[in-house]
Parts: sequence; structure tokens; C-alpha cells
Amino acid sequence: MFGRGDHISLNLTDSEKFSSQKRTPRKIRRQWNQLSKCQKSLVYMGLLIFVLTMFYLVSVEPKGAVISINFKTKIIEKVNGDEKKDNLGDINNDPQILEHPEKAQMNNKEENEQVVEPPRKIISFPDPSTPRQRAVIKAFQHAWKGYKKFAWGHDHLRPISETYHDWFGLGLTIVDSLDTMYLMNLKEDYIEARNWVEKHLNFDINRDVNLFEVTIRILGGLLSIYHFTKDDMYLRKATDLANRLLPCFESESGIPYSDVNLFTRKAHAPKWSLDSSTSEVTTIQLEFRYLSWLTDNPKYENVVSKVSQIVHKLDKTDGLVPIFINANSGQFRSYSTITLGARGDSYYEYLLKQWIQTEKSLEYLKNDFIESIAGVEKHLAKRTVPNGYLFIGELLGGSKDFKPKMDHLTCYLPGTLALGVHNGLPLSHMKLAEELMTTCYQTYAQQPTFLAPEITYFNIQGENSHDMYVKSNDAHNLLRPEFLESLWYMYQLTGNSTYQDWGWQIFQGFENYTKVVNGYTSIGNVKNTANVRPKDMMESFFLSETLKYLYLLFSDDPKLLDLNKYVVNSEAHPFPIGQLNL
Ligand SMILES: *[C@@H]1O[C@H](CO)[C@@H](O)[C@H](O)[C@H]1NC(C)=O
Ligand SMILES: *[C@@H]1O[C@H](CO)[C@@H](O)[C@H](O)[C@H]1NC(C)=O
Repeated sequence: MFGRGDHISLNLTDSEKFSSQKRTPRKIRRQWNQLSKCQKSLVYMGLLIFVLTMFYLVSVEPKGAVISINFKTKIIEKVNGDEKKDNLGDINNDPQILEHPEKAQMNNKEENEQVVEPPRKIISFPDPSTPRQRAVIKAFQHAWKGYKKFAWGHDHLRPISETYHDWFGLGLTIVDSLDTMYLMNLKEDYIEARNWVEKHLNFDINRDVNLFEVTIRILGGLLSIYHFTKDDMYLRKATDLANRLLPCFESESGIPYSDVNLFTRKAHAPKWSLDSSTSEVTTIQLEFRYLSWLTDNPKYENVVSKVSQIVHKLDKTDGLVPIFINANSGQFRSYSTITLGARGDSYYEYLLKQWIQTEKSLEYLKNDFIESIAGVEKHLAKRTVPNGYLFIGELLGGSKDFKPKMDHLTCYLPGTLALGVHNGLPLSHMKLAEELMTTCYQTYAQQPTFLAPEITYFNIQGENSHDMYVKSNDAHNLLRPEFLESLWYMYQLTGNSTYQDWGWQIFQGFENYTKVVNGYTSIGNVKNTANVRPKDMMESFFLSETLKYLYLLFSDDPKLLDLNKYVVNSEAHPFPIGQLNL
């Protein structure tokens, strides 16, 4: 794609050529007529080569993103004068540079003085070191084989009908799996996937996508694999995508709309509601901030930091937030549910992780996290009868009614709590984490498949002798990762190998009841080993998160992914902590 600057300069050259042809002096024409046929051919040839070379130099996309920005900036500034802000999607016409010419000048000056940034370091990973890790790799390869055969280039594999499912039409499984393959050292598969991304991943499509999902899965996936490989192709794609997502933030309040069309760049609220989900608007910050650091362009971080600040200032119930927020008013929807499950969960996760990502500079986020955990203990944490398992319930209708129900999604929390304690938060959080681990483990262990249901209800009044029960509508398992994620954090931070053994039992559950000929499938019923009701769907997070966390959990090297150096996004994509180790 050519940008505005290129069009104008090309047009200029064309018209100059045109007018100069008209006025060719007679003398030159006479000399030309005296040349032999052969001499004329040589001249034509020379001209052709010259034109082709020029065309190549102008049209080829420069390899280094940083250099390309500087290169184009000069042209744009000269030709456009004070024209600003047009080509949001193209890294080569980055509007930030237009808005901050002083910055561009600085870069140019650096270029002239040959001040070169230190090269960013390529990271590599060892082969698997334990039999359990090798078993996970086998599982990955089995899933990948099915995906390649029946769903290559599409979002998700449907392993039973031997076809695919497209949600955004962005090859979701490939992008989400890149860093998993890289971590597992699956070189050939990785390179094949990388080449697909280079050739076929195209964001210029007329399709509505969800800001949050695309940010954590695709933007997150591209940025983490860029961090490992330093392959500029990923950074260019990530920047293009982020520019297409930015219109979401052009609401009255700054709270983003949930959806945007990648081609028309029109953003809007979800079709089914006027509001955005609280966890969605607060789980995009790690990704946009990291992109700002990489591109040295603050505009991405600015929009998402503003969201965090707005939410920070809103009234909460002891740090707990309702699950819906309105993009126009910037207010929570009153009387919406409070939960650490669906639509609430990762709000709390990103409070802590943003604080860690910024090397503990955003104090207000840490304070909000601590306050919210106190709120959890006060309002949501209750014990079952008869065995006293601790669980986290929900508040309905504006903090009135307690519902003794916990989504499997909530089982991410113990891992996040342990990460906080590791970073200096109150030790009491670790006690809460350990108790929640036991409860989450029980949601698996009490099922004959050894797989947890999507939602579990708890007995708090002693109606009967069961601590927990599952409604048949909630008995599905989508191959979700959250408890395995917590197992990895807990094992890494305590060294207690019980957590590895629990993970191994759950892995057996997946192997026994979700593995099918062409991959792995979600199931409809964890309560019945004779009929688990396969649902014919393998979501991208199974490869991005579930198998990645298992692989990490079973490593005997606790620093395979060092939690002092990395913060992991909500889709298991690791980013470096701080700005020094990009
Ligand atoms: C899964 O299969 C293995 C091997 O056949 C067996 O040892 C294990 O008990 C099974 N686990 C479950 C939960 O069925
Ligand atoms: C390891 O964790 C398990 C499960 O919470 C616990 O029962 C056990 O006591 C722990 N072991 C050690 C050595 O702390």
C-alpha cells in the first residue's frame, strides 16, 4: 500500500516527465535519429532497468520497522506540510510521528549521528526435559495434526465433523499457538506457522471483531512471539492490527466499545447489549502498553491507561466491580452482578499484572487489587458443608443476594494471588490461594472423568451431605486452562510437587475423555464417563494456554519462564517486565 506522501511524489514525477517530453529540444531529437537500431535498444534497455529499479526501491516494504518510520516521515513531512492524521492503519505512515515531529526529528538526528539502538535479544528454549513434558508435546502434535488437516488457516478445529469454525476469520489457532510451539522447540511446525502469518494473516477484512478477544489472543500472540524471535514481520502485523482496534476508544467516556469492524474501522457496542463487559475493557492494557514500548509510540498505552484510570475512580463495593460498564457514560450498570467469573475475572488479574509489568510504578492498581481481595474475603468467600471447602460466590442485583456458585474461570485466582505474594503482597493472600487450590482441585477430582464442569454450585446450608453439585446445563468442559494456570504459578512459587501431580491427573482426564481421532474436543458432560457428549470444538486457548501451562508445570527447570522477568497475559502470552528488556 502506498501512503499519501508516495502518491503525491509519484504524481509529481509523472507530470514532470510528461511536460519535459513535450519540450524535447530539437538537437536531442536529431542525435536520437542518428543512432542505430542496436544503440537505441541499448538505451531503451537502460531506461527500463532504471525505471524498474526505482519502482522496486519505492514499493518494497523496508525490513526494519523503526527505520521505515523515519524514512517515510521525512517524505510525509515535506510533501504534506501541516496535513495530519489520516492513515491510521499503516505503520509506514504512523500518525504519531506526524503529531510529534520533535520526536521524528530526534530519530533523524540519531540516524545521522549513527546512534544505533542495542540489538534486541533473540530468546531460545531447550528441548523438553521430563517424560511428562514429552507427553504434553505429543498431545500438542496430535491436536496440531488435526488442525492442519481440517482447519488450516481457520480459527478453530472441529475435530469430529472434520471441519473448521471461523469466528473472526483470522487463523486464530495459528496465531495463538506460535509461542507455544516456540517454547516447546517444535521448529518445523513453528516455521510453517510463521510463514502462514507472513503470507496470509490479513487484517484488512470487512468483519466485526471483539476488541478484547482479538487483543489478548492475536495482538498478544504476535507480541510475545515477536519478543522471543525479534522477527519484525510480527511487529508490523501487530501494529497494523492495533491501529484498526483504536477506533473502539473513540467513545464519549474513553471506555472502549466492545466491537469494531477491521475494514471500515467503525466501533460499536455489542449487538446484545448497550454495555461493554468490565473485564473486557480492563484486560487489554498489558498488550497495548507493550506495543507502545516496542514502537516507541505512546498512543496505544495512552488509550488503555485512561480506561484503567476511569475505572479506578468509579464507586465499587469494597473494591469489587459490577460486570457491565457503559462506553458513553463511563459508568457501571447498577445492579449488575459482581463475580470473579465470567465478565469480571481478569479485571482483578490485570490490576496486579499491570503493576508488575510497569515494575511496580502504578501504585493505585496494586492498592485496588489489595482492596478487591479484601472485598472478596468479606463478601464472596464462603465455606461448604460438611467439609468446609472455601469457594468464591457471586453477588446478584447490586450486592444483595449471594449465590453459592463459582465458574471454573475463577480458578485463575489462586495463581494470581500467589504471584502477588511473590511480589510482596500480604502473606494472608497465600492462605486464601492454597485453600482455593484445594476447592478447584475438588471440582475436578469429584467428577468421574477427572474433569471440572464449567460451573459448580456449593452447599452452604447443610441441605445434604454433598459439598458441591453440578447442574446438567453447566456440566460441560471446554478444555479450559484456568486451574492449570494456577497450578503452574503455585508450583513455580512454592516448589510443592503435589501441584505437578494434580496437573498430571487432570492431563489424564483430558487424554481419556476429550481426545478424539483428529484432535481434542470440548465435551458436554463431565459427570458420565460412558457418554461425555463430545461438542466437536477445539478452541485456540487449548493450544495457547492449556497445553502451554501443562508443559511449563511439568518442567524441572523452574526458570523455563522466569516470573521475575515475565508477566503472562490473559491468554498465556508472556511479555517481558519493564522497558529495559523488550
Ligand atoms: C485414564 O486412563 C489411564 C490409563 O488408561 C488410567 O490409569 C486412569 O485411571 C484414567 N483416568 C480416568 C480419570 O479415567
Ligand atoms: C503441598 O500441597 C498440598 C496441597 O495443598 C499439601 O497438602 C501439602 O501439605 C503441601 N506440601 C508441603 C510440603 O507443603
